[in-house]
Amino acid sequence: MKTETTQSGLRGALRAARKAGKSIAFVPTMGNLHSGHITLVREAARRADIVVASIFVNPTQFGANEDFDKYPRTLAADSALLADAQCDLLFAPEAREMYPDGRAQATAVSVSGITEMLCGASRTGHFSGVATVVSKLFNIVQPDMALFGEKDYQQLAVIRRLTRELCFPIDIVGVPTVRADDGLALSSRNGFLSAAERQQAPLLYQTLSNLRSAIESGQRDYSMLTQAAIAHLGKCGFVPDYLEVRRQDLALAGADDRELVILVAARLGTTRLIDNLAFVLS
Ligand code: PAJ
Repeated sequence: MKTETTQSGLRGALRAARKAGKSIAFVPTMGNLHSGHITLVREAARRADIVVASIFVNPTQFGANEDFDKYPRTLAADSALLADAQCDLLFAPEAREMYPDGRAQATAVSVSGITEMLCGASRTGHFSGVATVVSKLFNIVQPDMALFGEKDYQQLAVIRRLTRELCFPIDIVGVPTVRADDGLALSSRNGFLSAAERQQAPLLYQTLSNLRSAIESGQRDYSMLTQAAIAHLGKCGFVPDYLEVRRQDLALAGADDRELVILVAARLGTTRLIDNLAFVLS
């Protein structure tokens, strides 16, 4: 696997493959890779001739009080995992390569309508930071397809919309969430959990699963169901940010909607965890 740190290096490294008509799949990440990320890379290798991954801890998607400084940076271990997973090319730029005019650059991509609620409500500017950096990465890599995890459900919706509306000729592929045996969605932030918090953390997914069962058994008062679940999470040591039943297009769900997703974000100690469960009522 080759590693490039500049836009021109990356473009040069892809030139021959592009000329030869090879298909290119792209997996953007912020590093500290786990089996969730690696599943995206393996799926990319299954679908395309050439796999490009990026590792860039994007400053513009972190709020002032968030964990940008302490976000784990583990490039050597990540490179070994990527090479093992049949990644052909790693793009690992410095901040000034991605933001030549500094972080407060004059141009940003913002996607309205689906970014004001859920994670967007408590993380102001987060999705604009994501949309801006993903657009830059798409312009640099120019892949045929890009793969994203369903674990970040709202992020995937934002990326699908910006891809369509900004006319990027890129197929967006969503990949199911990879979980630990006890149900906890794998995340780079799980490493911040203490041993006791790690024991508690699977309750998040259990809560989603219980809610799905309740809805499947005919309960439709989503407000009552989610309030009870929020109270239970609170009693068990979580500080819930949101827990909502939505339509899969993220609009508010009514009793007649059948394609649903339950989304949750909660803090456990100082660590913010998110998860979701999408399902279709028969
Ligand atoms: P990061 O959190 O590193 O995640 C990179 C990709 O891995 C995302 O598409 C995410 O949804 C996916 N992923 C993370 N955990 C997963 C899991 N347990 N199962 C399946 N996929 C999982 O998301 C970002 O980085 C950034 O916002 C980025 C898109 C790179 C823009 O900076």
